[in-house]
Amino acid sequence: MKKLAHDIYVSEILSDPEVPSRRRRGANHILHHLKQQGITKGKVLEIGAFKRPCMSPFPPEKFEFNILELGDRTRHDIPILKGDITNCPQLADNSYDVVMSHDVFEHIDKPWLAASEIQRILKPGGMSYTQTLFSWKLHKVPVDYWRFTPDCLDMLFSDLERVESGFDIMERRNMKPARTIPEDDYGKGWLESWRVFHVGIKK
Ligand SMILES: C[S@@+](CC[C@H](N)C(=O)[O-])C[C@H]1O[C@@H](n2cnc3c(N)ncnc32)[C@H](O)[C@@H]1O
Repeated sequence: MKKLAHDIYVSEILSDPEVPSRRRRGANHILHHLKQQGITKGKVLEIGAFKRPCMSPFPPEKFEFNILELGDRTRHDIPILKGDITNCPQLADNSYDVVMSHDVFEHIDKPWLAASEIQRILKPGGMSYTQTLFSWKLHKVPVDYWRFTPDCLDMLFSDLERVESGFDIMERRNMKPARTIPEDDYGKGWLESWRVFHVGIKK
């Protein structure tokens, strides 16, 4: 982790200027932590991956890959477990080696319940990887509820052993306007486009 200012930490892996794609940055970051934790096989759950799931760190001969989504819509052929991560009794306690989400927590109505379910369904020694937003344009997919700080993610996942949490500022001031917002003063909050992440291990 690199300290940028008094309480602003960024992951060096997420700060590689050679990796502009957020998907590749996230995949590299996950791979790094899988290696560090010695997780080489098992069951993975990605929450909210109706399109382009993050599968590259998980070779299919080693990992079983599941997706949990609210609805049936999908843009790939990986089977979807239909369900809500804030209340998913159909997923057994201690059943996943990795539970991850990318750009999902800001769309979850009660993220504290999601964190509790993630901590319940992870196996001891299993890894949680959560990437969401600190500062971003309004985007209703289908609803946009929250923005997060690393402290908030540490608190939500406080039953896990914290490995790393911080910012991904590679898309800072990307200035890309939402299609529905004209490029004027509206919604200027999102001009600072910062992602935030948390990595934790179940004790
Ligand atoms: C912005 S999309 C993220 C898509 C994808 N992960 C990506 O990075 O491109 C957010 C997704 O989270 C799903 N979602 C929101 N709340 C959820 C919940 N409580 N349980 C499961 N999925 C949820 C939505 O249905 C939506 O497909």
